[in-house]
Amino acid sequence: LAGIYIHIPFCKQACTYCDFHFSTSLSNKANFIDALKKEIFQRKNYLNEPIETIYFGGGTPSLLSEKELYSIIDLLDKTFELVDDIEITLEANPDDLNGDKIKSLALSPINRLSIGVQSFYQKHLDWMNRAHKVEEAIFSIEKSKNLGLDNISVDLIYGLPELSEKEWENNIQHIIDLDIQHVSCYCLTVEEKTAYHHQVKKGITPAPDDDESSNQFKTLTKTLAKNGFEHYEISNFAQPGFYSKHNTSYWQQKNYVGFGPSAHSFNQVSRQWNVSNNHQYILSVNSGKEYFDRENIDEVTRYNEYILTSFRTKWGVNKKYLAHHFNDELVSYFYRILNTKINSENINIFEDTIYLTDYAKLLADRIASDFFYV
Ligand SMILES: C[S@@+](CC[C@H](N)C(=O)[O-])C[C@H]1O[C@@H](n2cnc3c(N)ncnc32)[C@H](O)[C@@H]1O
Ligand code: SF4
Repeated sequence: LAGIYIHIPFCKQACTYCDFHFSTSLSNKANFIDALKKEIFQRKNYLNEPIETIYFGGGTPSLLSEKELYSIIDLLDKTFELVDDIEITLEANPDDLNGDKIKSLALSPINRLSIGVQSFYQKHLDWMNRAHKVEEAIFSIEKSKNLGLDNISVDLIYGLPELSEKEWENNIQHIIDLDIQHVSCYCLTVEEKTAYHHQVKKGITPAPDDDESSNQFKTLTKTLAKNGFEHYEISNFAQPGFYSKHNTSYWQQKNYVGFGPSAHSFNQVSRQWNVSNNHQYILSVNSGKEYFDRENIDEVTRYNEYILTSFRTKWGVNKKYLAHHFNDELVSYFYRILNTKINSENINIFEDTIYLTDYAKLLADRIASDFFYV
């Protein structure tokens, strides 16, 4: 089983910190949708497996009208074999989720919403240059729930320069009080070419403070665990039965195909990524030119990537998976490094899995890099 990712490369305005691919000009939205549909047709044989998840990410997919979204889903349905209980997620910004939009989404095949709330304090939203107000975020969550959308995820950010410990506790409490099924919490990072990067370079705004961020991460994991959430990936927490099937499939090395500018695809032996430029993407798709780069994935790269993604999840590194998928040299290298860390308080071993403790997940990338084979 495999997944489909669709990148919608438009946003109303640029958030201070964000370097994802998007354009704030919507003038070629219709041309983009046209090209996207052509790409779906051109690359329909990339995967030959039933599809269990579709994920509209961005950018801001909720900027598309219902008609545009459903015509894409309709095309995917005609082009691929979709499983009956398919998960279809839409990333949505609260300012797009008015009553009519939510009503129509509730009646559509989209069965999971990932709402970009970020904070329940207006001063943080202003600093981030978000297009929505706190009241719109609360309205969008409550209305979606009332209309029967029962698989809602909310995104929050911690590590913000002006986010106090108390405010962070309150943000988490809001999630609990609103009885949401899934939360993705991202630690603020300074990305090049963003307004935030510029501010940090000029000394106008401080960079995130590592100690504050890690305290906020600890508060997060502790509070959500107490309230029935499972911490199943470094940034992701779910009530029982509400993991994101789509994102989990990335972390479990399943195949996926990505359509739209900047979208990535993966089929075990290679990874490819589309050009991150709307104009170039549309032109190339229409004229039959190549619009992606590709790299072959050798066994060592696959091993390093497996270690990196697995240590971020609650499933950790699996002894049987290692033995079945990698050669003896890589497997014995892994155990050699593991032996040097056997007394580390960050690593747990239970039956076939080697995984990081909750707090150590924040250090996952550093710990994983010790296991990389170079
Ligand atoms: C790229 S957005 C796409 C979805 C939607 N446009 C939104 O804003 O929610 C996905 C998530 O990435 C987060 N994100 C983007 N850049 C980030 C950064 N530098 N640090 C932390 N989180 C970031 C966003 O805040 C958002 O929650
Ligand atoms: S965080 Fe979301 S809304 Fe903001 S610029 Fe990035 S993709 Fe667009």
